[in-house]
Amino acid sequence: MSDEIITGIDIGSSKTAVLIAKMSEVEKEVRVMGFASVPSQGVRRGQIVDINQVTATVESAVEKAERMAGTKVTSALVGVGGPHIESLNSHGVVAVSQPEVEITQEDVERVVDAARAISISSTREVIEVVPREFIVDGQGGIRNPLGMSGVRLEVNTHIITASLTNIRNIDRCLSDLGIANQGALFSGLCSSLSVLTDTEKELGVIVVDIGGGKTDICMYVEGALSYSSSIPLGGRHITNDLAVGLRVCLESAELIKLFLSKEHKDKLIDDVNIGSLNLPEGITKISSKTAIDGIIRPRLEEIYTEVFKQIEKSGFITAVPSGVVLAGGGAQTVGTLETVRRSMGMPARIGKPAGITGLVDEVLFPQYATVVGLLLYSLDNEPTSGQKINLKDFDKILRNLSVLSSIKKVKNLMKSFMP
Ligand SMILES: Nc1ncnc2c1ncn2[C@@H]1O[C@H](COP(=O)(O)OP(=O)(O)OP(=O)(O)O)[C@@H](O)[C@H]1O
Ligand SMILES: [Mg+2]
Repeated sequence: MSDEIITGIDIGSSKTAVLIAKMSEVEKEVRVMGFASVPSQGVRRGQIVDINQVTATVESAVEKAERMAGTKVTSALVGVGGPHIESLNSHGVVAVSQPEVEITQEDVERVVDAARAISISSTREVIEVVPREFIVDGQGGIRNPLGMSGVRLEVNTHIITASLTNIRNIDRCLSDLGIANQGALFSGLCSSLSVLTDTEKELGVIVVDIGGGKTDICMYVEGALSYSSSIPLGGRHITNDLAVGLRVCLESAELIKLFLSKEHKDKLIDDVNIGSLNLPEGITKISSKTAIDGIIRPRLEEIYTEVFKQIEKSGFITAVPSGVVLAGGGAQTVGTLETVRRSMGMPARIGKPAGITGLVDEVLFPQYATVVGLLLYSLDNEPTSGQKINLKDFDKILRNLSVLSSIKKVKNLMKSFMP
């Protein structure tokens, strides 16, 4: 069976990351061959604001990753996020076509289609339909109804929608570069695929990906994705506050933030020597009380208070005992874990992407959770066409699909069964 080359492109507000990997369907392995991360231009709060700048950024990141991998990128999955992301939970119901025999794949497709038929504005597009549970003749909590017998099949789904303009802009950038867009996925969902454990998902957990210009939120309840959202606050706001508060330029403020986050994690020294940063302003010492307690912490508290409001809005606040798993570059900000625990009253940990092999040394950091998740998504959702799958394998794939699916992908899967 041939291996497939897959590419993920995460166009973030701060950086654009590209990951090229070889996917082995048999071993369920994603082996990284090429990786690049370049500073983003033309993206604000996860949204494209200058197409030409974004195209140039993606081009330079893709070229770098291609050189490392020794292969050309012709198609890619792309992450999208930002406050234009919305989600809702929808219900579908159908009569089983052959109740005397068993529930078939076609019934499953029909019921997911029924749940997908929601009315949304013409300026939005559905980017994900995830079945949360199937209900057969009133019995709920079913992950995979295939082969069961029943008369009435229902499904509860989670649907994510995004701004059509943003998706079209991404399409434009990629087509200008001769790259086929295999799909736009919510960046928060991708991060959750690379940083969460199955146990956390089963118990109920929240992924909070703090990027440069936005923070994505995904909630899993009883193993299923149940709420997705994104707020326009991120690490860049902390940098801005430091620039204003310490009267330095943005570049110096960013350096100070990274220095404090790296060097000053558990130390309570007041005068911090930052001479090694050689800042153009000539500052060699800052007070950590001023910088951390007075500037960074209040902004972190604001971000987590906003995240908490979203979680309250979801209605699932009591169903997430595993607490918060942080991802994104902002997860590494000094004092972030204590702030989450205090402002949200929940357990928290910093998530690192996992589940890939090969050239991963540069990749296994929270800011690359999204790009890693893009590849993991295709591992579970894009079986190599023409492969032979026996019924046991098919069950396994459906279990994956039950956590993550869209009707389009179910259809692709069915095609692989056809002669
Ligand atoms: N070690 C670190 N300590 C503190 N902050 C960090 C660290 N590394 C990165 N950051 C911050 O994380 C932010 C960038 O995170 P990330 O790379 O996840 O964003 P992005 O994916 O480009 O943006 P977005 O997801 O908002 O579109 C920046 O504000 C940066 O200052
Ligand atoms: Mg991001």
